[in-house]
Amino acid sequence: MSDTILVTGATGKTGRRLAAALKEKNVDVRAASRRPSADHLVFDWQDPSTHAAAVEGVDAIYLVPPAMVEDPAPLVAPFLAAARRAGVRGVVLVSSMGAGFPSEPPGSGRRKLEALVADSGLGWTILRPSSFMQNFSEGFLLPAVRGGAIPNPAGDGKAAMVDAIDIAAVAAAVLTDGARHAGQVHDVTGPSPISFAEIAGVITEEAGRPVAVRPTTSPQFLAMLEGAGVPSDYAAMLLRDQEAIRDGAAAAVADTVQRLAGRPARPFADYAAEAAGAWR
Ligand SMILES: NC(=O)c1ccc[n+]([C@@H]2O[C@H](COP(=O)([O-])OP(=O)(O)OC[C@H]3O[C@@H](n4cnc5c(N)ncnc54)[C@H](OP(=O)(O)O)[C@@H]3O)[C@@H](O)[C@H]2O)c1
Repeated sequence: MSDTILVTGATGKTGRRLAAALKEKNVDVRAASRRPSADHLVFDWQDPSTHAAAVEGVDAIYLVPPAMVEDPAPLVAPFLAAARRAGVRGVVLVSSMGAGFPSEPPGSGRRKLEALVADSGLGWTILRPSSFMQNFSEGFLLPAVRGGAIPNPAGDGKAAMVDAIDIAAVAAAVLTDGARHAGQVHDVTGPSPISFAEIAGVITEEAGRPVAVRPTTSPQFLAMLEGAGVPSDYAAMLLRDQEAIRDGAAAAVADTVQRLAGRPARPFADYAAEAAGAWR
């Protein structure tokens, strides 16, 4: 009998792609969302009464932390305890490359979350993806792209941005062969670092209209996030990641996609050609 895998965040950028990839491998997928539907089991980090049913009979969990929460550990700890009681064997945490940047405070919420998962008593693997390419077509930067100007507090800094499909492919490999990856932390990046100016150039070509970079100071970027309703401690974390890109900390390329998914990581140009519909 095939394993049952709980995919949290199953309507999101990585979870949606992971659920599809696992189904293609004939894995029994339990896809979770706050909204009930024929395809989704109801699961809400903020509502512990939904947790026990989500983990019952599950072998492994893809854990997308509660959205926009700087310190998710208090919400995740009881869930992991319930998972352990239910006999779940493994968990794959979506963390962030930012958790490993030199500028990351040791007591940051995402570092505490990684420690919590590592101490959960479950077999664990931590994925630390770089910035997602899909931020420009499905995430917080889409309105800016559509408006023709991408705010950029990172200057000429480059990030080895990753396609969400590659994160899903790596997660699928780990979740279906958990024992081999237990106790490991994997950076997950694209194939090469890219600057915001280069990104704007590629998007301009694919969108068929000009999309520029709007140089933005750190306080302006923070104010923009907070104005869009992002809690201030979470906004500060997002800004830290942009400043790390500016300072050259996010340009490193990892070979994780090639090693675990067995194919090269997708370049930004391939992603943009596919995502262009979102910008036209
Ligand atoms: N974007 C980046 O550049 C980047 C880079 C590195 C790491 N990350 C990390 O990636 C994670 C986000 O992953 P993603 O981009 O795949 O997700 P996403 O597209 O941001 O979607 C969030 C998912 O979480 C679910 N969700 C939100 N609030 C929830 C709640 N209270 N209870 C249960 N589910 C909830 C949503 O489902 P419903 O709305 O259907 O409930 C949705 O499926 C974050 O932890 C972030 O730190 C992101």
